[in-house]
Amino acid sequence: MKMKVTLLAGDGIGPEVTREAKQVLESVGQLNGHSFEFVEMPIGGVAIRQHGSPLPAQTLEAALDSDAVLLGAVGGNEFNSLPADKRPEAGLLQLRQALGGYANLRPSVAYSALSDTSPLRPEVTDGADILFVRELLGGLYFAHPRSWDREGGVGLNTMRYTRDEVVRVARIAFHLAQKRRKKVTSVDKANVLEVSQLWRSTVTEVAAQYPDVALDHQYVDACAMHLMNTPRNFDVVLTENLFGDILSDEAAVITGSLGMLPSATIGGKVNLYEPVHGSAPDIAGTGKANPLGAILTAAMLLRHSANLEQDAVAVETAVGRVLARGLRTADLARTRGLNQQIVTTREMGRAVFEELNEIIDRRQALHAV
Ligand code: IPM
Ligand code: MG
Repeated sequence: MKMKVTLLAGDGIGPEVTREAKQVLESVGQLNGHSFEFVEMPIGGVAIRQHGSPLPAQTLEAALDSDAVLLGAVGGNEFNSLPADKRPEAGLLQLRQALGGYANLRPSVAYSALSDTSPLRPEVTDGADILFVRELLGGLYFAHPRSWDREGGVGLNTMRYTRDEVVRVARIAFHLAQKRRKKVTSVDKANVLEVSQLWRSTVTEVAAQYPDVALDHQYVDACAMHLMNTPRNFDVVLTENLFGDILSDEAAVITGSLGMLPSATIGGKVNLYEPVHGSAPDIAGTGKANPLGAILTAAMLLRHSANLEQDAVAVETAVGRVLARGLRTADLARTRGLNQQIVTTREMGRAVFEELNEIIDRRQALHAV
């Protein structure tokens, strides 16, 4: 099997973390006789500097012409005063829209080896395994009207959803829940917003086609609290774009660090894979960035685009093992507990790479018997 992956490293720590993710994909390819061909293109701030646009035409063309897109991060302080539609982030939003993926999957898993990294008590987080399904192409991010009237002093964005937009993302959430613990929590603000009333009634309608999956509804404010109090009660969390943006960052606390969270966006022409974290310009180039979010994102690519479930699990297992050995990037440093070894981005990537090679070697040896 041959796959063409467009690699959009982007800004800040993006290039450092995607380099490790790329290496993981290459080694899975070599060990299994697949080949991943990478086409590297600029996006975000780098693209603004080189081409005057956060999403140059060549980048979009390459992305649309590939089997999967792997993205690092976009954004930088020097662009903070630009209008929203000229910023690095606008390039990412245009890309998401052009690729057409509407279901953004964001797993948040409490690794047992990280139980003392999270500020939450281990008895609260142990075993927590949540999959956020964030609607990615609608709501306040994309709907019109939108404007900033500087003289009039009025800013405007619109939270708009059509029934069809809710149906398609809800189906993905229920479908994925069937393969997990069969529970969907739909999150909205239906006590105040009409758009949420549409959301809730549509999700309830879709649920009828999945009688084996339990559905409950939570208001977003209450959900934000329950996520910290009782994270184990959640399986799949289905929500609209901005609520999903906020809740998935909050859920990083369960894992221990935002640097751990991967994501995959499916349902469109080409799947898009990006870690949840941002470009972290303050630590770019220092070797402090955590590459595990990007590496786990590569695992999602193996699962959802390359159909290599076994290899996806191997990558996830390798990550679990390096954490169990006590390896920590700066963001994962423990405040209590012993046996930790602070490592750089590269060292962490290499450790995962070595564990992964061993796991796959052993698997192949078993097969050969
Ligand atoms: C994310 C990010 C993006 C978003 C930004 C960079 C546009 O925060 O992927 O969560 O808001 O979707
Ligand atoms: Mg975000």
